[in-house]
Amino acid sequence: MNSEFFSLPETLNVIFQKDNLEAIRCDIDTLQKAIAESHLPHEDIIYRHQETEMSVGVAYLLAELDQIAATLTLERTKYYLKRLIKALEKVKTGKINDINLNRWKEYDDIFTDSLWLLDRRDTSGAHNAGYWGNFVPQIPNQLLRRYTKQGDWVLDTFLGSGTTLIESKRLGRNGIGIELQPEIAALAARNSAMESNPFDVRTEVVTANAIDVDYGRILAQCGISAVQFILMHPPYWDIIKFSNDRNDLSNVSTLHDFLTQMGRVAANVYRVLEKKRFCALVIGDKYAGGEWIPLAFYTMQEFLKIGYTLKSTIIKNFDETKGKLNQQELWRYRALVGGFYIFKHEYIFLFQK
Ligand SMILES: C[S@@+](CC[C@H](N)C(=O)[O-])C[C@H]1O[C@@H](n2cnc3c(N)ncnc32)[C@H](O)[C@@H]1O
Repeated sequence: MNSEFFSLPETLNVIFQKDNLEAIRCDIDTLQKAIAESHLPHEDIIYRHQETEMSVGVAYLLAELDQIAATLTLERTKYYLKRLIKALEKVKTGKINDINLNRWKEYDDIFTDSLWLLDRRDTSGAHNAGYWGNFVPQIPNQLLRRYTKQGDWVLDTFLGSGTTLIESKRLGRNGIGIELQPEIAALAARNSAMESNPFDVRTEVVTANAIDVDYGRILAQCGISAVQFILMHPPYWDIIKFSNDRNDLSNVSTLHDFLTQMGRVAANVYRVLEKKRFCALVIGDKYAGGEWIPLAFYTMQEFLKIGYTLKSTIIKNFDETKGKLNQQELWRYRALVGGFYIFKHEYIFLFQK
């Protein structure tokens, strides 16, 4: 099979015209064998449809053909064939992402469950775990693919080392990152510059205080009036002290102050978020004075007060933080004595405007 000139929908349409179940099965079998011989399961097949070059994953295609071949009636076989032809001919996307709904089964690496168990950090490309407190790239990767389209604008209000911008570039989304510390903003700019820019998107790093920066002005400088997605990964209050700056949210002295300031950030960015679009908050709880403080849920409440609608609460696992590295036994002992459980999870709250 020469993929370059191969019209997959046409081939399937010819099979569809047949009115004999055995003949259809025989053709499907021949097609499956030809695909399996010429492609590896993880590859894509390039095919033509009305002069347009399109592609489909081999594993997805073979699974669909399997389903057609296993069907017992002609009527059902034709139903599945027609569905596959439509999936190969037409792209159907929603308003907030580029997921082709006619081929939703192909996206088996996109999470739809509220429990995210990630066993390994993605360290490909410009990603690295060098910044204490950075999140795993899979978080922005999953969220950007579900809540943005190519060419959309993404705002990260607590940029840190630039993980969101690296992922935005990779996926073809424009990105704006706000970071309080000038040297960390510079690190983020260096990190994101290391990632290639295949979709020619813009990446802006702004050194500013996320609490009171003029978001409208920053967006205007980029030639836009709204962003399509907001990602926030603030300090989990004082769990990790990021700097000595008094505007640093890891330096606020009381829980009340932390929540007030997070409420201000949430309200300020609400104004620049396009209607119906999403905002994600990544945050964990804290333990102090013998008490579990549900920092994440308190902060989530501040977003609800502003008018965001809560769409999901995701629990994400994490392994040891650098602070607790090699101290498992000590923490286990403390937990047994103190009657508490050791943090192994954090939250991702999904809000919609
Ligand atoms: C949890 S880290 C974000 C890490 C980031 N997701 C990454 O992957 O590198 C929080 C960041 O917020 C920054 N920060 C703290 N207070 C801030 C403020 N008021 N405005 C902007 N950034 C702030 C800290 O300097 C820190 O880099």
